[in-house]
Amino acid sequence: MLLQTAEKTGRILYNEEISEGIYRMGIEAPDIAQEAGPGQFVHILIDDGAYLLRRPFSISGVTDGGIELLYKVKGMGTGIMRKMPAGGMLDVMGPLGNGFDVIGGRTAVVGGGIGLAPLVYLTQRLDGDTDVYLGFNDKPFALDCFDGYDVSIATMTGACGYRGDVTKLLSEKLRERTYDRIYACGPKAMIKSLKRITDRLGIPAEASFEESMGCGLGACMVCSIMVADGGSRTYKRVCKDGPVFDLDKVEM
Ligand SMILES: Cc1cc2nc3c(=O)[nH]c(=O)nc-3n(C[C@H](O)[C@H](O)[C@H](O)COP(=O)(O)OP(=O)(O)OC[C@H]3O[C@@H](n4cnc5c(N)ncnc54)[C@H](O)[C@@H]3O)c2cc1C
Ligand code: FES
Repeated sequence: MLLQTAEKTGRILYNEEISEGIYRMGIEAPDIAQEAGPGQFVHILIDDGAYLLRRPFSISGVTDGGIELLYKVKGMGTGIMRKMPAGGMLDVMGPLGNGFDVIGGRTAVVGGGIGLAPLVYLTQRLDGDTDVYLGFNDKPFALDCFDGYDVSIATMTGACGYRGDVTKLLSEKLRERTYDRIYACGPKAMIKSLKRITDRLGIPAEASFEESMGCGLGACMVCSIMVADGGSRTYKRVCKDGPVFDLDKVEM
């Protein structure tokens, strides 16, 4: 039943490897493109012969009549996705979730690995006074998506840019500058470390959470995280109430 809700189907326009194990996919999906805001995601049904679960992917860009995804090949589903040819049809549901609050002022986006995907679209929607901080394990990718911005890079191996965590790099930069808001997406450890910094400095921050999902529609509670709501603590669903949350309210 869940699979029949708000289904939309899109033609694959391109599906190309842009770096080792990282793909950029364009999908013709006019309805989704028209509605999609930065931080929202699509849920894609992949026939892997095993699960009947969809896989969530952030919308990393919107074109005239289409959306773009950036994805990392991780397991079975993305392993199948990477082989899908242009011209093929894909079962795409969306746009789902709440998305980032796009505000004016001086902003920073902080991405860890493939977590940069939703930040590409967000950066295009912000008014331009935005600094970009990207952390990678070793080799950076998708840097062309941030052409025209001040991009600071950190790599764990030291292969490029600052050696170490992107949040440490940000922390150093925050000694000489500040931001009206910081937006982030990446591994939990990165988000947790960012939260320590933004809580300490009182900088408003929003983060997109990439929890494992089941239904993607708010029904199964698989994706719940603990959030402070007024005076109490409550579970919120990443798929329905998120994936973007005010970082100061999330318990990590
Ligand atoms: C809101 C949101 C946005 C995301 N955006 C992107 C993106 O833009 N690019 C990208 O590369 N990845 C993104 N992810 C992660 C992506 O959904 C998983 O990497 C993908 O589902 C893995 O599928 P798999 O079958 O290849 O891996 P497997 O490990 O074989 O997956 C098995 C099952 O676990 C689920 N699963 C595993 N890891 C995750 C995960 N991190 N999040 C959710 N479900 C998971 C899968 O959906 C699948 O049902 C996002 C996740 C969320 C929640
Ligand atoms: S994935 Fe089912 S409630 Fe979020």
